[in-house]
Amino acid sequence: MTDTTDTTLNTKGITIKRTAVTFNTDTDSPVEALRPIDLDIAPGDFIALVGPSGCGKSTLLNVLAGFIKPTSGSALVGDEPITKPDIDHGVVFQDYALFPWLNVIDNVAFGLERQGIGKQERYARALDNLDMVGLKDSAYKKVTELSGGMKQRVAIARVFATDPSIILMDEPFGALDALTRRFLQHQLLEIWQKNRKTVVFVTHSVQEAVYLANRVIVMTARPGRIKLDHRIELDYPRDFASSEFRTLEKLVYDQLDEELAKTFSLEGGQGYSGD
Ligand SMILES: Nc1ncnc2c1ncn2[C@@H]1O[C@H](COP(=O)(O)OP(=O)(O)OP(=O)(O)O)[C@@H](O)[C@H]1O
Ligand SMILES: [Mg+2]
Repeated sequence: MTDTTDTTLNTKGITIKRTAVTFNTDTDSPVEALRPIDLDIAPGDFIALVGPSGCGKSTLLNVLAGFIKPTSGSALVGDEPITKPDIDHGVVFQDYALFPWLNVIDNVAFGLERQGIGKQERYARALDNLDMVGLKDSAYKKVTELSGGMKQRVAIARVFATDPSIILMDEPFGALDALTRRFLQHQLLEIWQKNRKTVVFVTHSVQEAVYLANRVIVMTARPGRIKLDHRIELDYPRDFASSEFRTLEKLVYDQLDEELAKTFSLEGGQGYSGD
């Protein structure tokens, strides 16, 4: 892949410093979700975050999105500590979170309105971003007329439309069928290569992680810590069937299997052999 990094692009690094989260609940004892984590993410990096269910991936993403305040430590975007949700930090979750009372183009233009951009430019930018995800022709449809995959494409167009400096994605393709997922992976990579946003992408799919990211992070079973931090140097587009790809998949699976075994024995199951 050619390096298209351009200093005029709005993209920032993320610094996670000794960040820990413990949830206090009224009924149960406190839940330690994240042990202190340190992580430096360079501007323009595409990070895939994988780990067993309940290990703290969404918690970490919620800290980066400003939805959860860490119990200790801090997280910064560029030089700015994250203290609250910010339109400069784009978020895409699994459940689309579109506004059903707005049509497609107004959903995509919503953040631009909040940025004080006039209607003509809002619509021009929204249409460009819808075009990027293949939905320009659906701009004036109601959200309720769209399929699940189309809704998720609108959510992606919306997040890129405001030109955020980081993009946080929590299993954005998890609920989609395999073909739509493949199509969106391809489109996301194209957009990322053009915009070089810093992306933190949570996924349960090892294949998806190795296909998309230039750095894969495997988390331990809860309390989440970093178990593996591996740079993926393969050129894009990547070939699922190549031996290099498969070797990397195995590396990630081997690390995950150990953690899955811990997760399932913790939950009182029969244990998990990892085979
Ligand atoms: N608001 C909350 N209050 C109490 N406990 C919470 C809260 N949010 C998350 N937890 C707990 O923190 C731990 C980490 O949850 P989190 O949602 O971050 O996991 P995850 O890695 O995203 O899992 P999954 O892969 O299943 O989405 C879990 O044990 C969960 O029950
Ligand atoms: Mg989660």
